[in-house]
Amino acid sequence: MAEDLHIISGTKADQYRSLIPQIRGLLEGEPDLVANLANVVAALKEQFGWFWVGFYLVKGEELVLGPFQGPVACTRIRYNKGVCGASWAEAKTMIVPDVEKFPGHIACSSLSRSEIVVPIFRNSKVIGVLDVDSSALNEFDTIDQEYLEQIVDLITFP
Ligand code: SME
Repeated sequence: MAEDLHIISGTKADQYRSLIPQIRGLLEGEPDLVANLANVVAALKEQFGWFWVGFYLVKGEELVLGPFQGPVACTRIRYNKGVCGASWAEAKTMIVPDVEKFPGHIACSSLSRSEIVVPIFRNSKVIGVLDVDSSALNEFDTIDQEYLEQIVDLITFP
């Protein structure tokens, strides 16, 4: 049984540093992937209040929408399309300060203004991405990158 998330104040790095052990606790002993992805996005959304937080998982030639929090979103994204597809193809975290300036950005919502997409690696291959959207410009930086990369590493993929 999960305990309520303890909402943290302080700098963004402080917030991540306190959130990570809580996420580790949420995942501990639970083998179900959907349950774990769902709790990770819920914890991030609750702590940071971002517009949209969700996973896309690689299925064949596409990323397919997984557990998320926020408005309904595009279900399928092709390899190298949009920010998510670029993160998959380039196998690196993409920080987009202004989505309107990213060629090929896929606008699931006109309210999304900036975005970070973190690839998830298993056995040196990208198996999915964590996508976070903000309704503010310039929301994400290398602090988010550092900690979101750590968070996706906590998840066990079967
Ligand atoms: N903007 C993303 C699509 C996913 S949504 O933001 C939820 C992209 O360009 O890949």
